[in-house]
Amino acid sequence: MNDKVISREKWGVAVVIDIERKTAEIKDLFFTELKKAKGPEDLEEIRVRFLGKKGNITSLLKSIKNIDPSERPKAGQLLNQLKEEIELAIRQKREALLEAFYQKEEEEDAIDVTLPPRGRKWGGFHPVAQVMEEVVEIFASMGFTVAYGPEIENDFYNFEALNIPPHHPARDMQDTFYTTNGLLLRTHTSPVEVRAMRQMGAPLRIVVPGKVYRRDNDPTHSPMFHQLEGLLIDEDISVADLKGCMEAFANIIFERSLKVRYRASYFPFTEPSLEMDVECVACSGKNPECRICKGTGWLEIAGMGMTHPNVLRAGGIDPQKYNGFAWGMGLDRIAMLKYGLDDLRVFFEGDLAFLIGGRQE
Ligand code: DAH
Repeated sequence: MNDKVISREKWGVAVVIDIERKTAEIKDLFFTELKKAKGPEDLEEIRVRFLGKKGNITSLLKSIKNIDPSERPKAGQLLNQLKEEIELAIRQKREALLEAFYQKEEEEDAIDVTLPPRGRKWGGFHPVAQVMEEVVEIFASMGFTVAYGPEIENDFYNFEALNIPPHHPARDMQDTFYTTNGLLLRTHTSPVEVRAMRQMGAPLRIVVPGKVYRRDNDPTHSPMFHQLEGLLIDEDISVADLKGCMEAFANIIFERSLKVRYRASYFPFTEPSLEMDVECVACSGKNPECRICKGTGWLEIAGMGMTHPNVLRAGGIDPQKYNGFAWGMGLDRIAMLKYGLDDLRVFFEGDLAFLIGGRQE
């Protein structure tokens, strides 16, 4: 019997355990298994198999009591050494696996700043902006160009040059926002008519989309709203030209041929002055309860008329040689009618569910 073999008589049976060989075997097996471990579950399984209550090392440790007492310390030492080695190896492997896990996660979550942007799905044009663009395009197709003017105006362009007398109610503190330095927020886009005449002279064909301001606030009036002004100056222009132009516009914007009617009206800057109505886009006058036309069957679309000679003069144009027509319409109102809305305020409340229904870019 070689001296590495520790043995003892037990119940007449010789128990022979080669502790060194056994520990070497277990160690080999352990490291082969450890190498294969891929995650914390595998590690736990290995730990139980080698160090658990019924594990390899534990049962060997238990068997020490069967060997020769003089050999027990050495055997115990060997086994404890192996146990510690295994514990350490498991701990290190656990750390290595964890490290690898975090590294992988970091790589997967990494942002590649060299990639092109994916773009954003959200965002779109406001319904009023869409209508504004559509209306401008219709008049552009008839040869009108777009002109702009300041939103902070002076009394001359907003009122005086437009033949609006000093006592006119539009100048009232109730209607107009005045600045502290004597200017005002334009109450309509009409001042750009005179600015454009002065800048470009005649003949002239412009449309002016933009924001205007009045001291109003109710379901159908907002303190800021949008208008589109139109002005055509040339020789021998008649009301028939004005009507033809406006009817062509109405048919395109509402996408079908609608009945129209004109009512005599008054604006200081036009003579004669008219108001144009189109048949109700919702009920064509067939529904006395219609919430769009309020049962009247008609919708007011624009104020218009033949440009007053005083306005031409203020714009530096000779009324003996030139005449023309002008109109002004509320774009928010056109948008309301086009989309079948009865409360203007939805345009200004910023409710995304409503706004995102619009065209996406
Ligand atoms: N400026 C007018 C308003 O704000 C609208 C208007 C009416 C403009 C007749 C015009 C026009 O050019 O001819 O109520």
